[in-house]
Amino acid sequence: MEVPSRQLFIGGKWTSPKAEGRLQVVCPATEEVIGSIPAATAEDVDAAVQAAVAAVQAKQWTTSTGAHRASYLRKIAHLVKERKAALARLETLNMGKPIAEAEWDMDDVAGCFEYYAGLAEALDGRQGEAVDLGSDDFSCRLRREPLGVVALITPWNYPLLMVAWKVAPALAAGNCCVVKPSELASLTTLELAGIAAEAGLPPGVLNVITGLGGDAGAPLSAHPRVAKVAFTGSTATGKRVYAAAAGNLRPATMELGGKSALIVFDDADVDKAVEWCMFGVFWTCGQICSSTSRLLVQESVAPAFYAQLKKRAESIKLGDPLSPDCRLGPVVSQSQYSKVMSYIASGKAEGARLLTGGGRPPQQAKGFYVQPTVFTDVQPGMRIWKEEIFGPVLAARTFRTEEEAVALANGSEFGLGAGVISADPERCRRVSEALEVGICWVNCSQPCFCQAPWGGVKDSGFGRELGTFGLDSFLSVKQITTYTSDAMWDWFPQRPPSPRL
Ligand SMILES: NC(=O)c1ccc[n+]([C@@H]2O[C@H](COP(=O)([O-])OP(=O)(O)OC[C@H]3O[C@@H](n4cnc5c(N)ncnc54)[C@H](O)[C@@H]3O)[C@@H](O)[C@H]2O)c1
Repeated sequence: MEVPSRQLFIGGKWTSPKAEGRLQVVCPATEEVIGSIPAATAEDVDAAVQAAVAAVQAKQWTTSTGAHRASYLRKIAHLVKERKAALARLETLNMGKPIAEAEWDMDDVAGCFEYYAGLAEALDGRQGEAVDLGSDDFSCRLRREPLGVVALITPWNYPLLMVAWKVAPALAAGNCCVVKPSELASLTTLELAGIAAEAGLPPGVLNVITGLGGDAGAPLSAHPRVAKVAFTGSTATGKRVYAAAAGNLRPATMELGGKSALIVFDDADVDKAVEWCMFGVFWTCGQICSSTSRLLVQESVAPAFYAQLKKRAESIKLGDPLSPDCRLGPVVSQSQYSKVMSYIASGKAEGARLLTGGGRPPQQAKGFYVQPTVFTDVQPGMRIWKEEIFGPVLAARTFRTEEEAVALANGSEFGLGAGVISADPERCRRVSEALEVGICWVNCSQPCFCQAPWGGVKDSGFGRELGTFGLDSFLSVKQITTYTSDAMWDWFPQRPPSPRL
């Protein structure tokens, strides 16, 4: 299958990388090379940042009204919808998620641009908001301004959607962007650059550079002309990116990894709970930051729950991700496959009980396929309980009391998401309040709405994307304080009008 062969997108033009390098694109379902992407290096990163700086200095975009910017976001949303089928196919070929999921992602991409178009329009109404100073002599108003050039670095699991979560609010706020998608899944982001150009976005407002993390991501996160770094990826890389941003004293948001728990109480409807559990760990082949990959099931219901889970996991339709009824595709790459398999080996070696899966599906001769795998009797010290696997592997164990369940769920270095399933609303409230996470689901797992904030605590990072939080994180708030009295300001020896720090 031919995929479009693109260059870097810098200053509104397709531009070959200075070193002329390209990286192969391997389809995870067939292991075949299906194309290539440009491999940017520091020189290209600098050119992209300079193009964005020039766009900031031109002021055409940064000083435009939110309503003006919204019209571009809506055009982008419209073009994404128009090309949904082609974009979804490209996403599936590139990273292996089932086509039905990729199509859903494209709807979400378009929805995200539309949502932030609405917030861009509303931003005009928020400008000039008055602040009550408690003074008759002074007045204060707020202006919300773009930060300037923002660096947006994204992972491969939701390639275009993770880009949309950053680009849409950054543009809505009036920033100029340099996007660096994952080298494992850059194809749809390059297409987005073309779509933005078609929508008429001024040159330099959206630049896309592709390439390896060390070659392209590192110089971008350390670039002194970047006003903010928004990063989504692993905790290990997040630490490097945050250190680079800190070197320039620039703000950063960190959407990092997770090891989220799903707690199922014995009053839950087992069929429904199993359904959410499956969705929480096998959707996108478990390659979801918020995947509820740790299951805590109350002791008395565990036998029925495990029996049903085993039956359902073994009936998942696995195979060609381009087939409309496929529900589990391959993992993204050879190295991800090896990593997931090594975790499965460690679960076996550390003494967890293998309920189902645990290897390569025998019918798949090619491709980075892993069977849907469930371990039970997992102990908190085991690696499969503690570490993010990012594959279709569930680590399950039982608990007796609510307190024990909460303690086990919170006993993690991560704090992204968690779910609680119970028929008792009061218990759901208590548990959701006690969980140390940024996202908590009650009687479900994984639903994600662009209106609600997204992000974690502890090693899962900080800052929030989506919702108004996502827009505000790309804005600087300026106070404009005016002396409104006619009286002469005889400053000495009077005290200033408010206590000073
Ligand atoms: N919290 C969230 O919302 C969220 C969402 C999706 C994925 N994730 C996390 O992402 C991870 C999987 O994605 P991944 O494997 O692409 O992550 P990764 O950390 O390997 O890479 C993420 C991005 O960082 C770039 N990068 C790598 N080294 C860099 C460096 N030194 N400086 C700057 N950039 C660098 C990569 O090229 C890629 O674009 C998982 O840990 C997952 O939990 C988190």
